[in-house]
Amino acid sequence: LPVPSVQAMVAATGGADVPPRYLRPAEAVTGIVDGEGEAQIPIIDYRRLLLELDPRGEESARLHSACQEWGFFQLVNHSVPADVVEGMKANIQQFFQLPAETKKRFAQERGQLEGYGQLFVVSEDQKLDWADMLFLYAQPPERRKTRFWPDQPATFRSTLDRYSGALKDVSDSLLATMAKNLGLKRETIAEKCTRGMQSFRMNYYPPCAQAEKVIGLSPHSDANLLTLVLQVNHVQGLQIKRNGSWLPVKPVPGAFIVNIGDMLEMLTNGRYRSIEHRVVVDPEEERLSVAAFHSPNTRATEGARGGCRRGRRRGVWDGGAWEAEGALLGDEAGGGKSFLERMKL
Ligand code: SIN
Ligand code: FE2
Repeated sequence: LPVPSVQAMVAATGGADVPPRYLRPAEAVTGIVDGEGEAQIPIIDYRRLLLELDPRGEESARLHSACQEWGFFQLVNHSVPADVVEGMKANIQQFFQLPAETKKRFAQERGQLEGYGQLFVVSEDQKLDWADMLFLYAQPPERRKTRFWPDQPATFRSTLDRYSGALKDVSDSLLATMAKNLGLKRETIAEKCTRGMQSFRMNYYPPCAQAEKVIGLSPHSDANLLTLVLQVNHVQGLQIKRNGSWLPVKPVPGAFIVNIGDMLEMLTNGRYRSIEHRVVVDPEEERLSVAAFHSPNTRATEGARGGCRRGRRRGVWDGGAWEAEGALLGDEAGGGKSFLERMKL
């Protein structure tokens, strides 16, 4: 079902009147927010992790514990050149500033997620998120549908191409280190998970005069393996569920916020945790973010039906979880949806 652009709606109405479809019960938005606590998601130093500055394996151990205890961490010194990251930020900000008519040239097609638009809506009474997005497949390169890749700003495509490759490398190395931490053979994970798929969701959350009554992105866990989120401007909004409260994430400038998805939780039999999270909206300022989703290569998941339902911990843990993938992604779980369909949530 088609949904209007929130950005266009706010531009047209000034944003004071929030249509009922966006209004949530008060407790759904506030919940218990643990804003006072000092607790923050762990910070992992990629340079220490990979450049053999970690002879005693301390940073690897911190990564392992972050994946087990938090499911979220911030990655600093991530090796992606600053001009690539800053270029991505500038291009996505410029894209969302384009006139509505220009952005619509890249609009989603009926029933498809890819392109400029909104998340799927399945019923008329479903509550809507206070956000617009641009969703693109980026890896492997043959999966790209360039008709959805903006040609304005003129540097968008080349910038995303570079950003995509750089993030794919970071994701592959993190997965390889995780595999080592889990006692898995490097070849196994390389075979299953590198040269995998990557998609992007670039999010635009307009300000909302009734910010305490809307949600930018409804609570969910990611269905994929590993997500790397770039916070584009200074406005916070991401919150993770921790010990029954919502913990606001305070982005470290220049860091990626990394989280474990359902597939990695399943493939590790729950050792690594896929944590529920959401985005709240600011009353005065827009917020932008770029999420990069990484999934196994298609060969590894051919014919697999999604068993990414939370809480389901099937299969054996004996270092053979990757081989047991067929069972882990067995067709009795996931409501008959393939993991690819789940990934689009
Ligand atoms: C998400 O992709 O779940 C949230 C990204 C964001 O921080 O906006
Ligand atoms: Fe997410």
